Amino acid sequence: MSTDTLTILDNRTGKSHEVPVADGAIRAMDLRQIRADPDDFGLLSYDPALMNTASTRSAITFIDGDQGILWYRGYPIEQLAEQSTFLEVAYLLIRGELPTGRQLDEWIWQITHHSWVHENLKKFMDGFHPDAHPMSMLISSIAALSTFYPDARESRDPGHRELQIYRLIAKVPTLAAFAYRHCLGRPYVQPGNDLSYAGNFINMLFKMTELKYVPHPALERALDVLFILHADHEQNCSTNAVRAVGSSGVDPYSAVAAGAAALYGPLHGGANEAVLRMLRSVGSVARVPEFIRQVKAGEGKLMGFGHRVYKNYDPRARIIKRIADEVFEATRTSPLLPVALELERIALQDDYFVRRKLYPNVDFYSGLIYEAMGLPVEMFPVLFAIPRTAGWLAQWQEMIGDPEQKIARPRQIYTGSAKRAFLPIASRA
Ligand code: CMC
Repeated sequence: MSTDTLTILDNRTGKSHEVPVADGAIRAMDLRQIRADPDDFGLLSYDPALMNTASTRSAITFIDGDQGILWYRGYPIEQLAEQSTFLEVAYLLIRGELPTGRQLDEWIWQITHHSWVHENLKKFMDGFHPDAHPMSMLISSIAALSTFYPDARESRDPGHRELQIYRLIAKVPTLAAFAYRHCLGRPYVQPGNDLSYAGNFINMLFKMTELKYVPHPALERALDVLFILHADHEQNCSTNAVRAVGSSGVDPYSAVAAGAAALYGPLHGGANEAVLRMLRSVGSVARVPEFIRQVKAGEGKLMGFGHRVYKNYDPRARIIKRIADEVFEATRTSPLLPVALELERIALQDDYFVRRKLYPNVDFYSGLIYEAMGLPVEMFPVLFAIPRTAGWLAQWQEMIGDPEQKIARPRQIYTGSAKRAFLPIASRA
């Protein structure tokens, strides 16, 4: 008997079954051979919320949740945040290696020169109500991009794929900025080719009457680092959505729109918005103990705390906390910062949070930075979606190239009624 196997004794039949173990996992399909009787479909694994199921093999992002470690393609997030730029990181995620100088120049040129959107997209954007949530506008307009690029359906062709990747990374900030300007009733600002990725985005958000808008260098760098930190996070809810939707063979605009929709929820990318609303409702340091009491009584959550994978301090939160100080030097200190610091201080020593291993996550401090930059809370999930587009595309591309992947189609355990005859309406009680 091989040692890299698992022996399962089926007490229903008395039979034992040996299944291989590789990379610390058994294949769920190997359970199918375990049958209570010949007509049995075979054993299923039941895993609501996919708490203990690996849905793919991936070489993109590594997380050790107990140690609080995050690597992109083997590079620690701390080094990337310190020494790289978002576009270089996007290249790394998608192509697998850091670029040479020439490769990076070509990559930046391509992204920069695909940032404009068709004029009809403005008309599409104009159709939204002015108080529409910018994340809803972003999700819809990303999906709408597929109508402009029918060639995107050729996703099996690597050349076509590359073009859609340039377009999506380039155009999502443009759509995001248009959504923001639409809410304010301000004219759209076209992308500027002489600005950095983050600088161009700030320009499209805030340019008014200046002939040439110059983004504040500290804010431009801070936003770029935030983009690096949010670029990928292995098989989270939105990435899983991109892979699941993409597995049907749909174009990447539709798959990325699905990812953005998944990101919108308050338990995922919408958490940064929820954190700021929570900090505002707590309002002052004096009210923190009462708020913590309410959380412990199950009356609400401490938003920006806890993570399915991290059972230690989220390494991204540590970096963001440092950037917050740099941003507040350039702007003004957020009056909510003392509230956040006090919530963190109390929670990190309170038995409720310690026992459940609840630590600040990426969203706990990012909202304070966005607020200091002058952005409304509704834009926070949008700011998450921009860099995550690179991660989604890296994952989508990996999925397409993986010969083991097929259309995603989970099983279920049926709990409904047994077969019964249809009752005409007059006979129903
Ligand atoms: N505040 C208070 N209690 C919490 C929190 C929280 N933020 N998070 C988890 N718990 C409790 C939860 O009630 C449960 O307690 P009990 O064992 O008594 O039932 C225990 O901790 C385990 O929580 P869980 O809900 O089973 O954990 P999960 O892995 O299903 O959920 C989570 C992870 C991120 C959805 C959850 O921690 C949460 O809702 N956090 C607040 C929202 C948030 O900040 N989301 C952003 C996540 S990071 C960005 C991203 O990648 O999306």
